[in-house]
Amino acid sequence: MKTTRAAKAALAAGLSASIVAAQGCSNVIVPSHALPVVASGWQAQLVVAGLVKPRSIQFDSTGALLVVESGKGVTRHSFTDNGGTCVTLTKSTVLIDQAALNHGLALSADGKTLYASSVDSVFAWDYDPNAGSVGGRPVVVVNNMGNNDLVTRTLLMSKKQTNTLLVSRGSSDGNEAKATVLSSGLSQIRAFDLSASKSRVYDYDTDGTVLGWGLRNSVGVGEHPITGGIYAVENSIDGVTRDGKDIHENNPGEELNFFGYLNATKANQGGNYGYPKCFAVWDVSEIPESDGLGVGKQFAIQENSTLTDETCASDYVAPRLTFPAHYAPIDIKFAADGKTAYVTFRGSFDKTQPAGYRLASVAFNADTGEPVASPDSNDALTDILTNANQTDCPDKCFRPVGLAFDAAGRLWMTADSTGEIYVLQKTSSSPTATTGGTFVTAT
Ligand SMILES: *[C@@H]1O[C@H](CO)[C@@H](O)[C@H](O)[C@H]1NC(C)=O
Ligand SMILES: *[C@@H]1O[C@H](CO)[C@@H](O)[C@H](O)[C@H]1NC(C)=O
Ligand SMILES: *[C@@H]1O[C@H](CO)[C@@H](O)[C@H](O)[C@H]1NC(C)=O
Repeated sequence: MKTTRAAKAALAAGLSASIVAAQGCSNVIVPSHALPVVASGWQAQLVVAGLVKPRSIQFDSTGALLVVESGKGVTRHSFTDNGGTCVTLTKSTVLIDQAALNHGLALSADGKTLYASSVDSVFAWDYDPNAGSVGGRPVVVVNNMGNNDLVTRTLLMSKKQTNTLLVSRGSSDGNEAKATVLSSGLSQIRAFDLSASKSRVYDYDTDGTVLGWGLRNSVGVGEHPITGGIYAVENSIDGVTRDGKDIHENNPGEELNFFGYLNATKANQGGNYGYPKCFAVWDVSEIPESDGLGVGKQFAIQENSTLTDETCASDYVAPRLTFPAHYAPIDIKFAADGKTAYVTFRGSFDKTQPAGYRLASVAFNADTGEPVASPDSNDALTDILTNANQTDCPDKCFRPVGLAFDAAGRLWMTADSTGEIYVLQKTSSSPTATTGGTFVTAT
């Protein structure tokens, strides 16, 4: 990105970047719906509109932004950086014209191989970041992932274990029982060491290392920047009952799960996280026969002689944190200092009062790489960007999806249903409230 002379001069004169943006940003675009509410100590701005379902995003080594537009392909966007959140789109090109690409995106450590996913496969292209082009036809890296309904195949290229690509695959709705069979490859996160062979095509069902299974749909996968701990955010089931009673309004909770490390330490790796048998409690007051249950403990839909809340606890891995039901977490990205994870929540469809629809943060201990909140917390999220009136969701709301940090430490976020990309910058090291920040419109 280019930094303008005015921004440099202002920074040299001691003005903060956010003041520069507030005073001097021209051609600011405004969201199609009500202005988002920004947490104190943050500034946010809409910088791209009119995209086709933007999902995962990733900066290349030149600072251009790569975007998976679901049903279209991968597009590449260049900006002029005027400081603060005042970045101006200068050029957009279609990098990969392939309608089957729908969510996953990753770059190799050297930035010269681009990975993107369809429901069935992970593809790799040679990528020239300076020319902004891919070379020829892609090779298939992982295949045999097709299933209905839960179709995202999230990709994460590890920064700690170079050439290890993580691929998350959800359940097959209507055939949940298959997820109890490891070789089905359903409801899992697997790691593939791509350094072994350039030409190998991995079969998802049988190859790679299983980091975790029994996961309904762990769409967001992140790596803690200090410890290398792998975390994923889980979209749990809809329409849950307990002993025949409908408890779906506030249960089960969405989950943050821990999958150990990609190094030689195998502890906390390969466990079963419970789906489709055990689910995390969010609101215990809704649950019949709730003795021994509480936030984050896992429960059985109907206890019987072999499956009880106790066997859920002893035989399956409980979440490290639990979030409100139906929030629909999609991405998780850690700040470079390892003290915060940012999580997008795309929001509910199966709830009387809409829920989710926000960007929130989770505090982490940088040294241990663990969340600060305990597993029974019902208060681990801090809102960063929310919709003004959630009653209007989803129709009149932005729906957060992909996240990426740029080289200046700003956080970029896609919203798929509105075709938007937002930029957020922290303007205070200790924000105090979930309102009171600045959303930049006209100046
Ligand atoms: C793997 O990483 C973890 C977290 O940084 C560390 O505690 C552990 O010792 C590492 N294991 C090996 C074998 O290096
Ligand atoms: C107990 O419930 C589980 C989950 O529904 C089921 O798979 C299992 O067969 C049941 N066991 C018995 C003994 O009914
Ligand atoms: C929020 O939206 C609903 C539905 O459109 C409307 O009835 C309500 O008045 C709105 N609330 C506020 C505070 O604007």
